[in-house]
Amino acid sequence: MNQKTKEAYDIQYECIDKIKLLADEWSMQAGRPIVANVTTFGCQMNARDSEKLRGILNKAGFQDTENEDDADIVIYNTCTVRDNANQHVFGRLGHLNGVKRNKKDMIIGLCGCMMQEPHIVEKVKKSYPFVDLIFGTHNLYAFPELLLKVLTDRKRVIDVRDRTEVFPEHLPVVRKYPFKSGVNIMYGCNNFCTYCIVPYVRGREVSRTPEEILAEVKRLADDGVIEVMLLGQNVNSYGKTLEHPMSFAELLLRVCEVPGIERVRFMTSHPKDLSDELIEAMAKNEKICPHLHLPVQAGSSRLLKRMNRHYDREHYMELVRKLRERMPDISLTTDIIVGFPGETEEDFEETLSLVREVGYDSAFTFIYSKRTGTPAAGYPDQVPDKVAHERLTKLLAEVKERAEERCARFTGQTMDVLVEELNREPGLVTGRTPHNIVVHLPGDETMIGKIIPVKLVRCLGFYYIGEPA
Ligand code: SAH
Ligand code: SF4
Ligand code: F3S
Repeated sequence: MNQKTKEAYDIQYECIDKIKLLADEWSMQAGRPIVANVTTFGCQMNARDSEKLRGILNKAGFQDTENEDDADIVIYNTCTVRDNANQHVFGRLGHLNGVKRNKKDMIIGLCGCMMQEPHIVEKVKKSYPFVDLIFGTHNLYAFPELLLKVLTDRKRVIDVRDRTEVFPEHLPVVRKYPFKSGVNIMYGCNNFCTYCIVPYVRGREVSRTPEEILAEVKRLADDGVIEVMLLGQNVNSYGKTLEHPMSFAELLLRVCEVPGIERVRFMTSHPKDLSDELIEAMAKNEKICPHLHLPVQAGSSRLLKRMNRHYDREHYMELVRKLRERMPDISLTTDIIVGFPGETEEDFEETLSLVREVGYDSAFTFIYSKRTGTPAAGYPDQVPDKVAHERLTKLLAEVKERAEERCARFTGQTMDVLVEELNREPGLVTGRTPHNIVVHLPGDETMIGKIIPVKLVRCLGFYYIGEPA
């Protein structure tokens, strides 16, 4: 940790201590514990950031609650990748306003990607005056300092930066699952796909050093974590700009060597940077899960070019061929956008045919959403909503058909399942195979966090019913 970072964190930890005194006082007055709720929108990176927000709140003396209506402090960690994510946040803020009317001490905070957009901050300032705190993705580490300010001044605090000076790496963390964890290996994105807002709200790509990452993985393993998910917007370009460059494949292998780590996953892989070295590493190392999320976005090379994806259909299909050659039963999943500006019926047919050819285990499918400030928002040939919706329906049917066929390929086999939680159905637990396929099986809470061999008895669409082998 450099001097500047150390000083920044010393201040944050001092603020946590000060908040704790205020929280204790608040609790005494109220005659009950003070509770906080953090709600996450968006991707795995936001989920990991929320674990840090929760860690801070917890260390500062607030108890966690799932129910925001009961909470004294509510933080929304927002996403702005598509407009429906934004609408969702505004809808829920409307509801919170009602809750706060009967609870005047309640603190409402907004952070995350949406807050990096000036027009959103303006809208919140104008139309949602009951929001007490606004901060962005670049100063997550300063949450203690900002919250303390809200608590002492009882005035609205807004602090959004346009670049990161201190990474949120030395904060307390409360993990959702004791046995698995995300680990950021890089921040930001340099790719500027023409539809995407992420580079604007998360800033430029920066890789963490392998030493820092491995130290974090070791700490996690010592704390009972057996599965890690390495996180970045484009993990395949990891390490290229480090002082001592290291490839993503090398990093993966180093992570696998950390004692106690049984499974390693990663997200997201950009097809343009997927190397043969990575395919080899996956094929050779048992701890690297045989699942690759490889967003294709579209099946038409013409559209991929307009999206600035830096690969074409042929290149993508060649990657799929190589992956399947080395790992015949690998799970492949993807992201697809329909209704990108200029998408013709022929382009869309190419997406359908690609889905048919690849045979994904599952796919996240999205209708193109116009994001202010991105190049595609200015493209003249926007696709009408109705057409985009029709295409989405067709695409979903295609994905489903192929995914169901794919999922059934393991029927009758025995596989290691990491049991993650109790099922809503009494007497059942739910876990995942290395291929990331969900399995429900008879069991109880003593099995949670353990890897056990399970016979995959029956495939029901996208998941299995299994029994301990
Ligand atoms: N970095 C990852 C993706 C992160 S965003 C990658 O490049 O693979 C997750 C997904 O959201 C993207 O893969 C894309 O399919 C979708 N997405 C991003 N911007 C979008 C937009 N403007 N409209 C619709 N979907 C979008
Ligand atoms: Fe967005 Fe493209 Fe970066 Fe992914 S790689 S976050 S889609 S700009
Ligand atoms: Fe959303 Fe930000 Fe992730 S825009 S998808 S939460 S990086």
